[in-house]
Amino acid sequence: PAPGWTTTSDVVVIGSGIAGLTAALRLRGQVDRILVVTKDVLAAGSTQWAQGGIAAALGPGDTPEQHEVDTLVAGAGACDLDAVRVLVNEGPEAVRELIALGTRFDHSPDGELSLTREGGHHRDRIAHAGGDATGAEIQRALIAAIQRAPEIEVVEHALAVDLLLDAPLDEGGGIAGVTLHVMGEGQRDGVGAVHCRAVVLASGGLGQVFSQTTNPVVSTGDGMAVALRAGAVLRDLEFVQFHPTVMYLGPDSRGQQPLISEAVRGEGAFLVDGLPEEGGTRFMQGVHELADLAPRDVVAKAIMRRMLDTGRPHMWLDARHLGAPASEASDLGDRVAREARVSRFWEKRFPTILATARAHGVDPVTQLIPVAPACHYASGGVRTDLWGRSNVPGLYATGEVACSGVHGANRLASNSLLEGLVFSRRIAEVLPGELRPAVAPGADHRTEGLVAGAVRGELQETMTSRVGVLRNAEGLDQAAGLLDGLAGTAATTVDQDAWETTNLLTIAAALTDAALLREETRGSHWRDDFPDRDDAHWAGHFDVVMDDGAT
Ligand code: SIN
Repeated sequence: PAPGWTTTSDVVVIGSGIAGLTAALRLRGQVDRILVVTKDVLAAGSTQWAQGGIAAALGPGDTPEQHEVDTLVAGAGACDLDAVRVLVNEGPEAVRELIALGTRFDHSPDGELSLTREGGHHRDRIAHAGGDATGAEIQRALIAAIQRAPEIEVVEHALAVDLLLDAPLDEGGGIAGVTLHVMGEGQRDGVGAVHCRAVVLASGGLGQVFSQTTNPVVSTGDGMAVALRAGAVLRDLEFVQFHPTVMYLGPDSRGQQPLISEAVRGEGAFLVDGLPEEGGTRFMQGVHELADLAPRDVVAKAIMRRMLDTGRPHMWLDARHLGAPASEASDLGDRVAREARVSRFWEKRFPTILATARAHGVDPVTQLIPVAPACHYASGGVRTDLWGRSNVPGLYATGEVACSGVHGANRLASNSLLEGLVFSRRIAEVLPGELRPAVAPGADHRTEGLVAGAVRGELQETMTSRVGVLRNAEGLDQAAGLLDGLAGTAATTVDQDAWETTNLLTIAAALTDAALLREETRGSHWRDDFPDRDDAHWAGHFDVVMDDGAT
């Protein structure tokens, strides 16, 4: 549709998590007009939900080199070494800057930054806040900083519909604007266009492509889809990370599911296939030298294997001993005292998870927590260089929407907040010197072909059942066919649901194609018909481009 309103800015930042707000704050004072647009309210994205923390070599004896090794090992041979080096070397300074901005991380009684461990890390290097509310604290501090910067304009409830170029890419075109669908924001209500000289995409991931995910409802892959339609290259889409320990709420539960942070295992919890006192076993022992703290893909696969072997829909996490020394006595008094200690530990260290589990009828102090893998993180996304530049002039990407190369085939735990922070700082270093001339963009003609919101559920079920943790050619082929069929269900109303569902379908189809092409098992991409990693044939990457500009 033709835009109903137009406005101008220099830089539009799309997204308001750690990546978007850091980029906006760092650009302040360097470019005149910065507009942050976000699809919901400022705090609605994934950053707010991050539990475990942010990884950086900040502890005594730790070094960026050790962080680099752990990141590369988790990434299963698919990381970009230069990007990883940027991440681990600039990480400590970036986290210190976050602290200077007002983020209150947890400290030990002696005043040192409290650092914990998660899967794949050989050191305690995860800074956390509020016990298990790290993302919420970071988001709070960033929003407070944005509110202290009135020169940064913010528009909430604004969905990015499409990027606008001043000329076709192959004729030297680049970013000249973005169309937005704004809901309930006064004069700018409805579809409109912002003419601008650069766009920073920081719109997060794609978790809602699957029917169970730890991601909030806003994570519908919009940034990746709009970038693709504008000619950007997406990379590594098949590497979707499934978090091993997501609370299992029953076969009918859909949408965002409660995360049980890896930090719970970092503090000593372990996976079991039944109550240990009734013969259940700790099945991660012997699977990997780090046992329950193996990299995330290893743990997710081991859980799935045990689920398939036993026919159960989930496994369990045993965290009934956290904070309490092993007790030999078993009289009632001892048991009550022990439980009280465990309860105090949980309340202090994992208050959010404790409250959530109890709200779902499970008390982790006395009961096993049912867990199963669910979609958690897109390791791939818009391909960028070391400065966050995409192949589209004037388009930068940072955070989960981007594929900077740091995660490879499987992101190391707690490297995601860090990636957004580090690469947004880098974007702010180069972007002001690369601003494109202000020109009127070409017309927005790309919103035909919208898919009906009603197909979203079927799309998600298809992806979970055939493109989920465990994949094979037969299921992937079926998924490709089913998704193709859904593309024919045209939307009758042009609204947010239709745009989001179209984006979900675009990304789901590209992800499925890449998963079909990669005939090996690597990191989070697990093919039961090609069970081994095959460096001779598949050490490279799949880049996705849209060849006809259609959705
Ligand atoms: C978690 O707390 O387990 C999630 C951390 C992450 O995804 O990096």
